[in-house]
Amino acid sequence: MNMHSPTVSSPRPKPARPKAHATSTLAEFDRAITAIDIAGLLGMPVENVSRVLRHEDLEGLLYRELTTAERTAWLQKARDALTDDVLQRTGPERQARWQAGWQEVLDRVDRDGVSAESVMPQYFRHDTLRLNGRYIRVPDGTFEYRLHRALCRVIFSRYVLGADRVVELGCGTGANLLLLRDMFPDTPLVGCDWAKSSQEIVTEIDAAKGNIAGANLDMLTMEGADRLPVTADTAVVTLHALEQLGNRFGPLLAFLMDAGPRICVHLEPIAELYDPNNEFDSVALEYHNKRNYLSGFLTELRELENAGRVEILAARRTGFGSPFQEAYSLIVWRPTV
Ligand SMILES: C[S@@+](CC[C@H](N)C(=O)[O-])C[C@H]1O[C@@H](n2cnc3c(N)ncnc32)[C@H](O)[C@@H]1O
Repeated sequence: MNMHSPTVSSPRPKPARPKAHATSTLAEFDRAITAIDIAGLLGMPVENVSRVLRHEDLEGLLYRELTTAERTAWLQKARDALTDDVLQRTGPERQARWQAGWQEVLDRVDRDGVSAESVMPQYFRHDTLRLNGRYIRVPDGTFEYRLHRALCRVIFSRYVLGADRVVELGCGTGANLLLLRDMFPDTPLVGCDWAKSSQEIVTEIDAAKGNIAGANLDMLTMEGADRLPVTADTAVVTLHALEQLGNRFGPLLAFLMDAGPRICVHLEPIAELYDPNNEFDSVALEYHNKRNYLSGFLTELRELENAGRVEILAARRTGFGSPFQEAYSLIVWRPTV
């Protein structure tokens, strides 16, 4: 299966919080994500996190840890996934797949209107996730999406606040732009993606919320970059999007070094942050490599930092992820010359 890209299928039902009728099932979830947990994942003071999070960000984020037997079974499942022939590699040939997946979301937005629920990407569907070196079971696929949003709210408020404009590269369904608009009502937002259906969704979000532009951009070639308004006051963000570039991030990095934005914020799977000697990590790292996810980006940034050309403000694994890998490592940096 295509673990981290949209599948072309009939639109998912509108995601909903677990309903009352599921109470007997919900009783198994004996833990809840708190502001303290989020502070721990991001390595930030809990006071700062609590100040930013809204009550609804954490509401119903219930989970339980897998038993030892379940953990063993999941590790095996993750290993089996590595030999799965349908596991697809990232690359230029994936563009049509993204286009089709986001067309499904566009159809849903046309039908249901713009909301955090209607723009939820289809790949948020797992009920088993990774958290702090363990597998956890959650009520449904909306848990990952909602924790993703909570993490983004804290990250954006820490690093994006104050930018004159925010440009999201590989913005997909615009879910993060919707959150950014909610957080920064007056800041112009730009969402870029190589899938034209993404720009159509962004147009709908703009019609509903205002001051959000879509732009077609191929991050592999940087075709379309000449029209991008990235200046010294711009914050550039990517969420699970650089992952798609494998080791072909050179043109994008050269663009950013040249444009000199005030800050670049990435929430991505970062191969360098796994411990290859740890079984739980090594199976994720193998998955990462098999999918041809982002490789060498942090190493390159560190080399640029040693050469005095960039400043790295954060490079941190949060320990949160899907069952197969952790797409929630935080890298924050800025060009210095
Ligand atoms: C996993 S999705 C993440 C979407 C969005 N950032 C989010 O967090 O919901 C990856 C996105 O990267 C886009 N993408 C993949 N390769 C790309 C490329 N070469 N240029 C531009 N966008 C690309 C896909 O179309 C998709 O929207």
